[in-house]
Amino acid sequence: MNMLAYILFFLRCKKLMQIICTSLFLGALSLVSYGTLSKASNSLDLSENLLVQSEIRKLKSRVNHLEYVTCLRKKKYPDVTFLTYKDRKRILITGGAGFVGSHLVDRLMIQGHEVTVIDNFFTGRKRNIEHWIGHENFELLHHDIVNPLYIEVDQIYHLASPASPPNYMYNPIKTIKTNTIGTINVLGLAKRVRARILLASTSEVYGDPEVHPQVEEYWGHVNPIGPRACYDEGKRVAETMCYAYAKQENLEVRVSRIFNTFGPRMHMNDGRVVSNFILQALQNEPITVYGDGTQTRSFQYVSDLVDGLIALMNSNYSQPVNLGNPEEHSVMEFAKIIKSLVGGDSKIVNRPAMQDDPQRRRPNISKALKYLNWKPRIAMIAGINRTIEYFRNELSRSQHSQRNFHPPDLV
Ligand SMILES: NC(=O)c1ccc[n+]([C@@H]2O[C@H](COP(=O)([O-])OP(=O)(O)OC[C@H]3O[C@@H](n4cnc5c(N)ncnc54)[C@H](O)[C@@H]3O)[C@@H](O)[C@H]2O)c1
Repeated sequence: MNMLAYILFFLRCKKLMQIICTSLFLGALSLVSYGTLSKASNSLDLSENLLVQSEIRKLKSRVNHLEYVTCLRKKKYPDVTFLTYKDRKRILITGGAGFVGSHLVDRLMIQGHEVTVIDNFFTGRKRNIEHWIGHENFELLHHDIVNPLYIEVDQIYHLASPASPPNYMYNPIKTIKTNTIGTINVLGLAKRVRARILLASTSEVYGDPEVHPQVEEYWGHVNPIGPRACYDEGKRVAETMCYAYAKQENLEVRVSRIFNTFGPRMHMNDGRVVSNFILQALQNEPITVYGDGTQTRSFQYVSDLVDGLIALMNSNYSQPVNLGNPEEHSVMEFAKIIKSLVGGDSKIVNRPAMQDDPQRRRPNISKALKYLNWKPRIAMIAGINRTIEYFRNELSRSQHSQRNFHPPDLV
């Protein structure tokens, strides 16, 4: 009996030992597998972490690079005067991306005003005003003045219109629309916001003049159905509309009759005497004089015109004012002056005269002198030299896209 009990006890212990050993084995196994698994997941986390860290490093360096580049490219604007709220005006310039308009933009911005340009870029270029884009006082709107515009302004310089014969003859109907419907729209805007408006009119309102030099009282001699009529008559109607608004709506209007103007930022396609002759001389091509060259012109430098426009806008004088340089030269003289300043081997050649080409042009500027204390200051030769430099640079810029630039066959 004792023996039996002893055997049973032994067997139970063995069983117990087996159970203990199995449990120990399973425990150890699970411990080992847990260790292995956690080790694996740890190493997974680590590689993920490394990947994230390297992505962050890449992004950081990209951000640093962008900050650096933005810093480098941060636009430097020309210095502008600080004007108090009372003195600062909101000024609209229609056609402000063009030749004259862009110089006017520069002057008014530097004076510290808020300037808005509207332009349809028919002859204007963004490049003329790009140095102001982004400035807090400057705004550029791509807009055609044949459509109405609603903005708040104190003064309007209304310059939008093609100005040179090849440009305004390219689309005569559009030229008339711009000077009539466009001017009505700008006058309507001026009336709504009670802004003073200055119209950039032209010596072309005198047509082929019978009075010399031209005074503002002269009514002109224009062929209403000739090739220049879309521009000449368009400007004449624009003047008429300004004075109708002044009379009927009490609008403050200023009218400048601008004579031929030249300077940097003239369009290469301008097609008038100064730009044509300079471009031809710079490229050693024949300098083309239309007619016998005895017809006269008077040329003012663009900065003088800008002085005159601002003086007129801020004056109390509301009748038309001639703005031009009374120094008169024949077209043949201009050709010789420009040839001698540029140098080179160009020959001066005559071509048939243009229809309705005015024979004499010279402003009487006694009104500008009396009411605005204005007269041109830049000597013609100095102005031509600056313009030659400008066209030289323009030609070298365009060398990549074309071999030679040929001015259009018009003056
Ligand atoms: N440059 C001169 O010798 C001269 C002489 C007399 C008068 N003017 C007058 O001065 C003004 C400026 O002449 P410019 O020489 O600077 O000419 P420009 O051709 O360089 O400038 C005219 C500007 O008006 C813009 N424009 C034309 N039609 C428009 C429209 N429908 N809507 C919006 N913008 C339009 C053009 O894109 C251009 O930027 C014109 O009104 C012109 O008649 C100039």
